[in-house]
Amino acid sequence: MPKLLVGNWKMNGLQAGVSIAAQIAAAAPKAADKEVTLAICPPATSLAAMSIAVAGTGLATGGQDCHAKPSGAHTGDISAEMLKDAGASYVIIGHSERRADHHESNAMVRAKAEAALRAGLIPIICVGETRVQREAGEAEAVVIGQLSGSIPASLGASDGDAAGIVLAYEPVWAIGTGLVASPPEVESMHQAIHAFMAKSFGPTGAATPILYGGSVNGDNAGSLLKLNHVGGALVGGASLTVDGFLKILNAIA
Ligand code: PGA
Repeated sequence: MPKLLVGNWKMNGLQAGVSIAAQIAAAAPKAADKEVTLAICPPATSLAAMSIAVAGTGLATGGQDCHAKPSGAHTGDISAEMLKDAGASYVIIGHSERRADHHESNAMVRAKAEAALRAGLIPIICVGETRVQREAGEAEAVVIGQLSGSIPASLGASDGDAAGIVLAYEPVWAIGTGLVASPPEVESMHQAIHAFMAKSFGPTGAATPILYGGSVNGDNAGSLLKLNHVGGALVGGASLTVDGFLKILNAIA
């Protein structure tokens, strides 16, 4: 099964970080042999330079958020069309840090994901429960609720076409904490997400890639990425260095 390995650099890295991406890009042919697609989502300030530096290497780039509108009076915001223009192929949408820091609702996440599709980008739509929700036994209901509210309406059951989107299951308690969801926890959540996607969008929904994210590193990636229903990883901290990122690639069988 092809896999997608995405680095989410968050608010880290100046323009000099482009050289890290160029070094990671050198491993793209090896990744292609393993049927792994590599992508890095740098801060918006580095996106254009990075996209130029890695053009034609097989390493894709992406944004970390976009506005729902294509242009207009929205000081400080960046549209999906602008990310595309800067060379992006992907955009992370609805990351839990944005849902928390910027009060992004499911409806906002859906509008942004629709904007990404409109601009020709692949949205990576993030969902995940908090520790309190998991302990209350609500993890699956929370995640399915987020998905029902966040997936673009255009991917309705009528056209049955969920191709062109990627989902990321990122338990909030596992992000940046060093705590990783256990393989059985990951597999059962990904299975539940695929069941929901199959019910809502047919066979294409069932085939939508689901990345796992939350403290993924070279030591745990091997056991997580071989699980059924896991289509790759969304990696924060460990994607910031060449070594950290390539160790994850090497761990993928
Ligand atoms: P982490 O971040 O790998 O540092 O836990 C993952 C993410 O937030 O996408």
